[in-house]
Order: sequence, then C-alpha cells, then structure tokens
Amino acid sequence: MESLDAVSSEIIDAIDIADSLDALEAIRIDALGKKGRISLMMRELGGMNAEDRRAAGQTLNRVKDDIATAIDAKQKILAAVVLNERLEAERLDVSLPSRPHTDARLHPLSRTIEEVIAIFAEMGFQVAEGPDIESDYYNFTALNIPPEHPARQEHDTFYLPADAEGGRKVLRTHTSPVQIRTMESQDPPIRIIVPGRTYRSDHDATHSPMFHQCEGLVIGDGIHMGHLKGCLIDFCRAFFGVDDLPVRFRPSYFPFTEPSAEVDIGCTRQNGALKIGAGDDWLEILGSGMVNPRVLENCGYDPEKYQGFAFGMGIERIAMLKYGIPDLRTFYDSDLRWMRHYGFLPFDAPSIHAGLSGGGI
Ligand code: PHE
Repeated sequence: MESLDAVSSEIIDAIDIADSLDALEAIRIDALGKKGRISLMMRELGGMNAEDRRAAGQTLNRVKDDIATAIDAKQKILAAVVLNERLEAERLDVSLPSRPHTDARLHPLSRTIEEVIAIFAEMGFQVAEGPDIESDYYNFTALNIPPEHPARQEHDTFYLPADAEGGRKVLRTHTSPVQIRTMESQDPPIRIIVPGRTYRSDHDATHSPMFHQCEGLVIGDGIHMGHLKGCLIDFCRAFFGVDDLPVRFRPSYFPFTEPSAEVDIGCTRQNGALKIGAGDDWLEILGSGMVNPRVLENCGYDPEKYQGFAFGMGIERIAMLKYGIPDLRTFYDSDLRWMRHYGFLPFDAPSIHAGLSGGGI
C-alpha cells in the first residue's frame, strides 16, 4: 500500500495549503466524494481475498479518517478567518456622530395657544369655538357696533359675496362674536376662552390678513372690575413667567365693553433688546372691559342680575413678545429652518405655574 501512503500525504499536503473554504471543499470531493480517489480505492477492496481485504480495509479506513479529521480541522481555521474578515469589514464605529434628527416641531402659535389654554383652564375656564365665516349680526351688531358705527371702518373687514336675501357674511374680524353665541346658548355662570383664527385686510411686519386671537368671557352674579384685574394680572404673570411683572390698566374704548381698559405689561428696552418685567417702559398686550349692558340685553340677559368682563388678545403678538420673534409674517412661511429654531418638541408640556402661585381670582 505504498501508493496509498503517497496519495494520503499528497491529500494531507493539499489540505495544509488550501487557502479558502471552496478550495478545501474541492479537495474533500476529490478525495472522499462518491467518485473521490479514496472512495474508488474502497471499491477495489471488493475484488480482494478476505485476508488482503481486511488489511487493506483497515489501512484505507485509517487514511480516510485522517483525511476527514484534517479537513475538519482546516475547515474550522478557514471559517474563523472568514468570520474575522467579516467582523473587520462590517465593524460598527460607535464613535461616529449620529445622523441629524428630523423630529417634528410644534409651531410656536400652537404652543402659545396650548399655554394660554393651560393657564385659563387652571382658573376654571372652558374652551369655546365659533365659525370663521360669521354673520354681520354676530361680528358687529350684537356687539353694539351698529351699521354706521365708525368702529366698523377700523376692522378692514373681508366681506363675502351677498347671498340671495342681500345679506353679506364676513370673515370674523375678532373672536368676540363667540361671546354672543355662548351667551345665547348657555346660562350664567359663564367662564370661557375662545382661541381661534381671525381676519383683517392688513399686511405688514406686525399684521397679517389671517391671525389668531384668544377671547375671554366671564358672566355671573356680582362680577366686577376687581375680578377682571385679578384674572388678567395672574394670566400675564403666568404666561410671561415673571412673578412680579407690572401690569397696568389704561382706559380705552370698545363698543361692547364699558368701561374698557387696555392692558400693558412692564418692560425695558436696551440697545434694541426687549426685556419683559419691571422697567421704565410699557407694552400693550390685550383689550378688556366690563361687558356692556347693551350686549347683555342683546343676548336676553338682565344687566341688573348679571354682570361680566371680557378680554381679547392677539396670539401672534404675545408669542412674538415671549419668544423674541421679530417678524409676524414668518409665522406663515412654513420655513423648516425657522421651525427648527423657534419650534417646540412635542410632548414637552407647557410650564404654567410661574405666576399662578400668588392665588387666583
Ligand atoms: N375684540 C377686540 C379686538 O379685536 C378685543 C376685545 C375683546 C376688547 C373683548 C375687549 C373685550 O380688538
């Protein structure tokens, strides 16, 4: 069996130098496969006499086992090499900076409306709504602004085409018509706020044809100016997060309130920078007043029995002041860079307790 030894060492040498799993598999098939060299020699055993067959058989089986063992061992080595190569090639560099996030942002107007609602909700107000397309009656007449009243000119109203009866609907110029709608559909006590869209034909850095207001209305037995002042002082301090924010009530005029007051908050201006809080200057932030008895009567309320106060503020204006946004038109540009800068991460609840600690109305 000399030739068997030669074949065997040739195969073992080939296994030694095989440098890939494919090459190793080829060697295995060539030696141990169905038509492999060792397999063919096994077949030859059939033609031998019993004694020779036993001796040759033993030798062949040993050679076959040696080859199989050598292939197994080499297979493990080559598999480890392949695995290491893959690990090396596919290695994750955890120190690489992550890709930039594209999280959505909450628009500053949405955030501001949420903050306003949260503050008034703490004071027991409910949110009410009304239509954007409003009748002349609710937008003006019921609010004590009769057809020839000069206040109508100041509103720069958008009128819709006249309907069959000649009536012209308007895009509401303020959220005040919801005062009337609420008083018509509810009995006192009433404590509502009305955040919503409003429209005026006006466009510059501080005016947009569509903008947002938040109305407020409180009606009850014995509601007086002290309630109005306490409520709005608490709101201003909570919203701007300044506990000792000076709040000033300045006499004013609105047809639907009597007396009426414009509300200013304290501020300082230094080198163009505005700081809200105690200072030598004032910023107007909302309109307010005691509900005019004529308005109560228009809603079927007896002014001897019920009194109340109302207020209205521009959402864009208070958002610009709180968050330092210089141009109102940018609110509607849908510029993602602007949103990334001024927007808010969702689920970051508004903090509303700053100014409510001093006690409610
Ligand atoms: N509706 C008024 C405006 O748009 C604001 C306001 C509301 C004033 C309620 C007083 C009371 O300017």
